Amino acid sequence: METTAINPSAKLRIDTERRRSVNCILKNYKDSKSNLISILQDIQEKFSYLPTETLEEVAKKLNLKLIDVYGVATFYKSLRLSPQGKHNITLCLGTACHVRASAKILDEIQSQLGIGPGSTTENRELTFNTVNCLGVCAIGPVVVIDGKYYGRMTPIKTREMLSKYLKKKNFSNKATEKR
Ligand code: FES
Repeated sequence: METTAINPSAKLRIDTERRRSVNCILKNYKDSKSNLISILQDIQEKFSYLPTETLEEVAKKLNLKLIDVYGVATFYKSLRLSPQGKHNITLCLGTACHVRASAKILDEIQSQLGIGPGSTTENRELTFNTVNCLGVCAIGPVVVIDGKYYGRMTPIKTREMLSKYLKKKNFSNKATEKR
């Protein structure tokens, strides 16, 4: 969910534009209800995530309960309810990584970034996600930063790597601080 404060008239304008975009997307689908996933994917492609008002508009126009639209939006991992950062950090918590202590790496990442899995820092620089397998179990635990895979990670290696990464990207100590 969005947390950044914007003034009410700007918010109204953004909401109206987003609802208009949803209606344009809906025109591409004859049997809209059975194409709900495709519609949500199209909305996400436009906004990079699914803003609340777009889900409300979909529910209203398709005569669906909002909770059902949210149900679909939250069921599929590829659909996002919050904006994504410019950079991405992903940690695997699948079985092979879990038995090699990926939970401790999770603690380390959360502590360095100040956010939990599925969240984006307030400055919209970084998004942190966890997954259940990246298909490279032999080198687990695995952390992926901006598409680059780092295998056989430990909490200490993660701390050092993240600290270098945050410094290189010129992020403040806690990437959550607003700029
Ligand atoms: S379980 Fe982590 S890469 Fe497969």
